[in-house]
Amino acid sequence: MSGQSYRAAVIGCGKMSRGHARAFLNNQRVDLVAGADVSEAARDAFSREFDVGSMYSDPAELLANERPDLVSICTWPPLHADLTEAVFAAGVKGVWCEKPMAVHLSEADRMVAAAQESGGVLIINHQRRYMDSYLQARDLMRDGAIGEVTQITGICAGDALTDGTHLIDMTRYLNNDVPITSVFGAIDMTPKGDVSPDGMGTIEFNQTRMRYGHHVESGSMAILFFENGVRAHLEMGNLARGGYQRFFIDGTEGRLELSGDSPFEDGSRVRVRGRTGPMEVLPPSSLDGAMDRALDDLLSTIETGAEHRLSGESGREDLEIVNAIYESARLRMIVQLPLEVSESPLEAMLTAGEIQLN
Ligand SMILES: NC(=O)c1ccc[n+]([C@@H]2O[C@H](COP(=O)([O-])OP(=O)(O)OC[C@H]3O[C@@H](n4cnc5c(N)ncnc54)[C@H](O)[C@@H]3O)[C@@H](O)[C@H]2O)c1
Repeated sequence: MSGQSYRAAVIGCGKMSRGHARAFLNNQRVDLVAGADVSEAARDAFSREFDVGSMYSDPAELLANERPDLVSICTWPPLHADLTEAVFAAGVKGVWCEKPMAVHLSEADRMVAAAQESGGVLIINHQRRYMDSYLQARDLMRDGAIGEVTQITGICAGDALTDGTHLIDMTRYLNNDVPITSVFGAIDMTPKGDVSPDGMGTIEFNQTRMRYGHHVESGSMAILFFENGVRAHLEMGNLARGGYQRFFIDGTEGRLELSGDSPFEDGSRVRVRGRTGPMEVLPPSSLDGAMDRALDDLLSTIETGAEHRLSGESGREDLEIVNAIYESARLRMIVQLPLEVSESPLEAMLTAGEIQLN
């Protein structure tokens, strides 16, 4: 292991910053030296909880004074692109940005370009690629437990950009990151659509239909067509049946069911059956510390250039799929990738008055 040490800082000291701060503190080669937040209350709470003395209201001041090597960006998505550019321009080696990468693909492109131009590493925190149950399921699939995968059904009680980005990212990961060639999508904009017709899916947002500083739909459904013939059917928001990140994966030799975040009703997270016979429940695996392992790999990527599982390019692909779902809904057609629009089609439909709010 290299002896190189790193100075780390967090920008946006709200709820999700806690996971980043803990990962920095858990890593012996990293010192968490500073934080920045526009809110004094957030700064105070973060400083107390993680014993960080240098807190700033202005991220630019933090970058100038502290010269960090690593920066976590944990603000809302509309701020991610500007902050990523500023952070790489300040010479930071590794940026660990929260998902979703951005709202518009043009922003994601700026972020990837900023990393490339500075020679730094950008990762987007789809941390389920490091979580034990998901890895357990993926290993089983790789070992042929269900033969050739034919279809993935993904369920996520949340909007496509905020929570669906994890569903899409994991769907891609479970199918070995094979390219997606086209996308069909439909969205539901039911006013105040906070409960699905069968009462199973729920999504909470205020009257303005905003979450995390951007618009969201009440529900969406999508079909992702992969280059290897696999199809993924996704149910999100108020169109999702029960569950947050759930997968039902059919293969030529069986079926695998995965509920990595919270268990199925029988307490299991991963269960599998062959072509015939009963469903077998897998014992829970014991890997902990998804964020710790994502950080370890970030340091390796900085030091060796090895590809990171959460690369900026991969985060951009997830955002492309979200926006392809919106574009398909806008056009009422299957959309071929690469997506040609670089601004969010959902925001475009709202601006054009094609969708009425409330
Ligand atoms: N990976 C995950 O599992 C996961 C889970 C929850 C949220 N998230 C993502 O994390 C991000 C943050 O979500 P959250 O729930 O922590 O939000 P939050 O509102 O709790 O925290 C955001 C913080 O950013 C601060 N902020 C706003 N503008 C700022 C600026 N210009 N400079 C510095 N700080 C600023 C706010 O004051 C706030 O303290 C979002 O992109 C969200 O989607 C990821």
